[in-house]
Amino acid sequence: MYSAIKSIAKIFFLKIRLRKVNYNNLHHLVHIGTYTLIKTTQRSTIQFNANVAIHDYVKLLAEDGGVIIFGEKVNIGDYSTIRASRATIDIGPHTMLGQRVTLISTNHAYKRRDQYIHDQDIDAEKIGIKIGADCWLGAGCIILPGVTIGNGAVIGAHAVVTKDIPDYSIAVGNPARVISTRT
Ligand SMILES: CC(C)(COP(=O)(O)OP(=O)(O)OC[C@H]1O[C@@H](n2cnc3c(N)ncnc32)[C@H](O)[C@@H]1OP(=O)(O)O)[C@@H](O)C(=O)NCCC(=O)NCCS
Repeated sequence: MYSAIKSIAKIFFLKIRLRKVNYNNLHHLVHIGTYTLIKTTQRSTIQFNANVAIHDYVKLLAEDGGVIIFGEKVNIGDYSTIRASRATIDIGPHTMLGQRVTLISTNHAYKRRDQYIHDQDIDAEKIGIKIGADCWLGAGCIILPGVTIGNGAVIGAHAVVTKDIPDYSIAVGNPARVISTRT
């Protein structure tokens, strides 16, 4: 009896959590891999467009008014984490993220000493992430809040991107620096 109630509660909870996931103009399927977690809290949305592929063990979290947008044919590698908290993470069409890529939308404010960091709101100056169309982000790279990656950019494996990257640039390292451009 207890396990039946638990199962019903689980289904109900899952439905609540997924109520803000939008599947737009889907003439083709969206692929969601195994053990991938998709979670939205109140006033948050995750938007999928056609032919998006989210691979295994990925975490997609939209919290406190956060928005995640996946353009058409976006591909997200295994074990990646995308967390939009009170901000938008927008990934343009035909962009690919390798394995274990992390996109973080928001920093904690931390300057004051008289408050715990968890009590200090967010840093409103560096917020959200925009990644253009036709980008390729290598395995393990981390994109920090406030960054815009231009159309066609390539980010090397394990780069930490702290600043904007211009269109069609190739950037590598920590912090990521532009080393060349696509021809
Ligand atoms: C960025 C990348 C695409 C560049 O490839 P490339 O055009 O063949 O470039 P090269 O190997 O000629 O490297 C050019 C320079 O950048 C350096 N470099 C390349 N990738 C780097 C990286 N990820 N981090 C730090 N430096 C890197 C090289 O050491 C080289 O430096 P040098 O000129 O001082 O010798 C590639 O190195 C990479 O990181 N690919 C990601 C692969 C991946 O993660 N795939 C996931 C599955 S989709």
